[in-house]
Amino acid sequence: MIQETLKLLEISGAKEINESINMEELDQVRVKYLGKKGELTNVLKSLSNLSQEQRPVVGSLANELREKLEDLIEKKGHMLKNIEIDNKLKNEKIDISISKNISKAYGHSHPFTIVLDDIKEIFMGMGYSIAEGPEIEYTKFNFDALNTPADHPARDLQDTLYITDDIILRTQTSPVQVRAMLNGKPPIKIIAPGKVYRSDSVDATHSPMFHQIEGLVVDKNISMADLKGTLEMFARSYFGEKTNIRLRPHHFPFTEPSAEVDVTCFVCGGSGCRVCKNEGYIEILGAGMVHPNVLKAGGIDPEVYSGFAFGMGLERIAMIKFDISDLRNLYENDIRFLEQF
Ligand code: DAH
Repeated sequence: MIQETLKLLEISGAKEINESINMEELDQVRVKYLGKKGELTNVLKSLSNLSQEQRPVVGSLANELREKLEDLIEKKGHMLKNIEIDNKLKNEKIDISISKNISKAYGHSHPFTIVLDDIKEIFMGMGYSIAEGPEIEYTKFNFDALNTPADHPARDLQDTLYITDDIILRTQTSPVQVRAMLNGKPPIKIIAPGKVYRSDSVDATHSPMFHQIEGLVVDKNISMADLKGTLEMFARSYFGEKTNIRLRPHHFPFTEPSAEVDVTCFVCGGSGCRVCKNEGYIEILGAGMVHPNVLKAGGIDPEVYSGFAFGMGLERIAMIKFDISDLRNLYENDIRFLEQF
C-alpha cells in the first residue's frame, strides 16, 4: 500500500520538477514533497504505524525517493539558473546604437596637431605629398647618406641613443629625404613630419624628443630661387600676407649652399618686440640646395637633377605661433593649458 503511494509520489514529483519553468515553481514543488508538511515527509512520519518487518523496508524506499527527488531538484535548479543568466544577458545587452542626449564635453586638438594640420594644408596646396619614415633608423640614412660620415663633427652635435652600432633613434627627419629618393623617381615633392630624438636634457627650450617637418623637392632645373619662393609662400600663408623672409648663410652637411631662414616677426611686423627679442626677425628653419652626394646616395644623378630641402622644428613654430614660452607645457597635457587653443 505505502509502496504504491511512494511510486505515485515518485512519478508525480519527477513530472512536476520537470515542468517547473522557474526557480519559484521549483521551490514550490520542493516544499510540496520534501517540506515539513510535504507529502513524502508525511509518509516518513507514518512509518511508526507500520509493522516491525515493514518499517525498515518502506523506510529505506522512502529515503531513496527523497534522495532521488533532491537530486532531480538540484539538477533542474542548475538548468533554470543557467537559463535565467542567459535571459539576463540577452535582455541587459547595451544597445550602443541608441543616441541619448548626454551632456557633451568635446575635446580639441593639441597645439601640435593644429600647427601640423595648417602646415600640411599649405604644402599640400602646393602639390606636396606627406611622407613618413621610421623613428628607429639606420645610421647610414640618418648620417652617412646625408653627407655626414662617421668622423663628421655634426654627429657629435646630434649624438643620440644607439640601439645597435648602426641603428639609432633618428636625430632628424632628414633621413626621410633619402628614403623618398630611393623609393621614387623625380619629380619628388614631399614633406615629412615626425618625432626625432637627441640626448638633450629637458628645459624650457629643449626636450630629448621633439618634432620636425622635413621638406624635399627634386626635379630638373630646381634652383635656390624655387627654394626662396616656396618658403616665402609658406611664410605668408602661415604667418600672414605681410611676412618677409630672410636667408642667412649657414652650413649643413647635406645642403650646399645652406641657409638659415628667418621670417619678419608677425607680432611687430619687423620693428622689434618681446616676441622677436627686438630682432624684427624670427628664425624658423634650416634649408639649402640638396648636396650632390645626397642625391647620389638617393640614387639620383646630380648632373641631371637638382633639389632643395628644408627642415623646421614643430615645437618652435608652435611656440612662436601661440606665444608659448616653455616647451614643457606642450608635453605635460595639463588640461588648463591645452584648453586655451
Ligand atoms: N636636419 C636639420 C636639423 O635637424 C634641419 C635641416 C636643415 C633640414 C637644412 C634640412 C635642411 O632639410 O636642408 O638641424
